[in-house]
Amino acid sequence: MRVLLTGGAGYVGSHAAGMLHRGGHEIWVYDNLSEGHPQAVPEGRLIVGDLQDGPKLQTVLREQQIAAVMHFAASCYVGVSVTDPAAYYQNNIVGTLSLLDAMRAAEVDKIVFSSTCATYGVPEIVPITEREKQDPINPYGFTKLAIEHALADYSHAYGLGYAALRYFNASGASEEISIGEDHTPETHLIPLVLQVALGQREDIKIFGDDYPTPDGTCIRDYIHVDDLATAHILALESLEPRSQLRLNLGTGRGASVLEVIEACRRITGHPIPATVEARRAGDPPELVADARLANQTLGWQPRYDTIESVVASAWKWHQAHPHGFGQVE
Ligand code: UFG
Repeated sequence: MRVLLTGGAGYVGSHAAGMLHRGGHEIWVYDNLSEGHPQAVPEGRLIVGDLQDGPKLQTVLREQQIAAVMHFAASCYVGVSVTDPAAYYQNNIVGTLSLLDAMRAAEVDKIVFSSTCATYGVPEIVPITEREKQDPINPYGFTKLAIEHALADYSHAYGLGYAALRYFNASGASEEISIGEDHTPETHLIPLVLQVALGQREDIKIFGDDYPTPDGTCIRDYIHVDDLATAHILALESLEPRSQLRLNLGTGRGASVLEVIEACRRITGHPIPATVEARRAGDPPELVADARLANQTLGWQPRYDTIESVVASAWKWHQAHPHGFGQVE
């Protein structure tokens, strides 16, 4: 299939791009490189462009005879979304509406959209099913939820087929090719802990140990980025005009911050000093997916089902690329 991946130079997008490319699909990555890395894109497949450049998007969709879009391009820092909501509403909502308009004009009627567990806010029932109320607690979550609503409305009115994939904590790195997680600034737990093991950081700060969880630290569902990529491809292949899929993507197993640090200690052999700090604003105590619907709908099953396997794959990438894409080792 001829697929355009917006944000395909970013973390999750580049893993999906690599997997599609290796699977023989004809792909194009459309990315403004504000966060993405050109080195992460398969050779010769990058088009540098902005979501808000509708005419350019339309030209690309038409000229490359694109059949479907995977839409990864977005701003995705929860904390920044609170201090600079304007950027989030612009990039995530205005940018996506521009993409959807270009798709309508070019008669492209299938899209797989990167949504998030942040659309649930603080869930009442964990593991979280897709029936849980979506009640975000930060602008990032609001922007993603707004687009889920837009997709449903466009599907009813214009026949768009879509899958909104609600990721839990994307983590790990591809074992097939040399891509992995490299954010600036880095705020995610696993890469930060591994930076301690690499000697780039003195210790890891634990944001709160007084949560209502067994060890007092927050619990998350760390889903491997290649498992996310697989789910995107399965969703894409299942889409028909007017399809409406809303699916959680997680392992169904939670790991606490302390358990993640312990796993990193075991995998790296480094003592990884940790200090407890105050809670970080906006962190729900526990986010774990009930991902049975994705299994029933797509036959999707995560291959990386332990925190150790996820951390081990991330560690391979960080050892080989201690400075991410910035410096080839
Ligand atoms: N944490 C620490 N110390 C750190 C960094 C993180 O203790 O230095 C903790 C956080 O407080 C949280 C857990 O580790 O409890 C995971 O934090 P991350 O920043 O790695 O991930 P988040 O759960 O905050 O964010 C993820 C995705 C977002 C998504 C969000 C939904 O990265 O895109 O889940 O809550 F929106």
